[in-house]
Amino acid sequence: MLLTPSVIWKAIINAMVISLTHQLLVISSLLYFPFLRKDLGAWSPWGYFRCLQQQIDQLLYAEISDRRTQYDPGLTDILTLLLSARDEDGKGMNDQQLHDELITLLLAGHETTATAISWALYWVHKHPEVAEKLLKELDTLGDAPEAMSIFKLPYLTAVCNESLRICPVAILTVPREVKEPVELMDYSLEPGTRIYGCIYLTHHRKDLYPEPNKFKPERFLERQYTPYEFFAFGGGSRRCIGEALALFEMKLVLATILYNYQLALADNQSVKPKRRGVTIAPAGGVKMVLNQRRLCGIKN
Ligand code: HEM
Repeated sequence: MLLTPSVIWKAIINAMVISLTHQLLVISSLLYFPFLRKDLGAWSPWGYFRCLQQQIDQLLYAEISDRRTQYDPGLTDILTLLLSARDEDGKGMNDQQLHDELITLLLAGHETTATAISWALYWVHKHPEVAEKLLKELDTLGDAPEAMSIFKLPYLTAVCNESLRICPVAILTVPREVKEPVELMDYSLEPGTRIYGCIYLTHHRKDLYPEPNKFKPERFLERQYTPYEFFAFGGGSRRCIGEALALFEMKLVLATILYNYQLALADNQSVKPKRRGVTIAPAGGVKMVLNQRRLCGIKN
């Protein structure tokens, strides 16, 4: 790639958006506590949240306007695809719609999937026998496997599920509000009560997942978990709309990295989960070293 000033400028803008988005997510727990949403200036949590939100919006709207004026239908990045999209009447999206699509991808889609991939890389390399089994499974697909064949691999699926079980990126579901009195197990819930599904606690129940703190992908091959037992992407009609995309990305990235590179964890220390807003991420990241490039990598 040629490093022209405009490429460098784009890279800076991208880094700024990602960094601001990251900061926004760190304080995103505010979304769960409506009473804390009071703008008492830039030093108050909600004031700071609003300030970050405005900065991200400005960058995104500037990028949208820039790309509208220099529209190049030959590009395949997500903003070009969104700009090219037409509804049944041939109408494209307005700036606000484009902004909303981008912010969903950035806030709900980017950080979550990247965190899930980091956890999976950690668990797979913490257990070399799992990495070996994964490679054996990948080898069965030959030299240039189709993306969908990778997506359907049973052991790779089990590894991703187990990683999302033991370290679910989202600890809680989005809250639901009771509309009319309801009995739920032994609780009588009144209208206005907010209910959260705790994904982390459910995924660590000993009766469902014996030895819950052990990474054992086999459990997902040995039994089928119900949507009430395994719900890394939430549940019901408001479950995550990005689940299929996230799993697709997760599997392709993991398979490609494993198949092409021999990585190892930089040290033997266990990585601790750290709460980052509404997500849990590896505290301090997952540090890895590249031992060597595998010769029989997936052809791109
Ligand atoms: C590993 C990656 C991801 C995880 C673990 C995850 C997890 C979740 C969870 C737990 C919820 C709450 C569902 C509920 O309350 O029942 C949610 C909602 C949502 N997610 Fe994801 N997500 C991921 C990736 C994505 C991606 C890639 C996108 C978009 C491209 C996305 C978009 C959304 C949206 C828009 C909602 C709100 C849905 C609604 O309220 O109707 N997520 N996600």
